[in-house]
Amino acid sequence: MTSDASNLDQDAKISSDAVSVPSTNVSVYEALYRRRMSWQLSSAPVSRETIDRMLAAAVWAPNHRLTEPWRFFVVDKDSPVRQKVAGLAYEFSMQRNNNPERAAAVRSSVADPPILIYVYCVPGPNEDTTQENYAAVCCAAQNISLAGVAEGLAVTWETGGATRHPQLKATLGAEEDWTLAAMLSVGVPEDNPQASRTPVTAFARWVT
Ligand SMILES: Cc1cc2nc3c(=O)[nH]c(=O)nc-3n(C[C@H](O)[C@H](O)[C@H](O)COP(=O)(O)O)c2cc1C
Repeated sequence: MTSDASNLDQDAKISSDAVSVPSTNVSVYEALYRRRMSWQLSSAPVSRETIDRMLAAAVWAPNHRLTEPWRFFVVDKDSPVRQKVAGLAYEFSMQRNNNPERAAAVRSSVADPPILIYVYCVPGPNEDTTQENYAAVCCAAQNISLAGVAEGLAVTWETGGATRHPQLKATLGAEEDWTLAAMLSVGVPEDNPQASRTPVTAFARWVT
């Protein structure tokens, strides 16, 4: 993995005609509306093949200048790195709040999900490109979330205290100048989270 998108192996690109699209009965609109984050993921394992399908969809996010600014770190529940990142989350929470119960809950939120995907954004050569890169990486994270619906999985997006320990990047192998766009917890939801939104009519107008 390289931090410089221009060094990526161009020969390895897959054309949109050649890509293999996983079959699903979930429509795009269904995925958009039914996608929910879950705070109660079951301990049922998620296969590597499933995660690979979701990650494959991530890189088809729109991306100005095709800078391919996304970097993904997948951490399985059983991996030793999982214990380390859970420990960092505990430590950061304790430093901030000095509340062992709260810190233990934060640690569990990192230690327990079957799969964690840390999504980082590589900066561009200037502020405009860095901003566009971040937008593209967020689209990639949303692609993962929508693919999750097709797989019967919830993908929970966090950027809070569990992701803010200064040693997290070094622990995962991320570069210092990358920005964390998302920590995604992936698993089968045990809850049935409800959500609401203000109808778009409050925010959109046709300008004539
Ligand atoms: C960029 C981003 C960061 C988020 N960070 C957190 C977080 O740190 N903690 C948290 O509880 N939820 C976080 N969320 C989840 C949102 O709060 C969630 O989208 C909201 O609860 C609505 O849930 P729904 O999308 O399933 O309807 C984040 C979402 C996004 C898009």
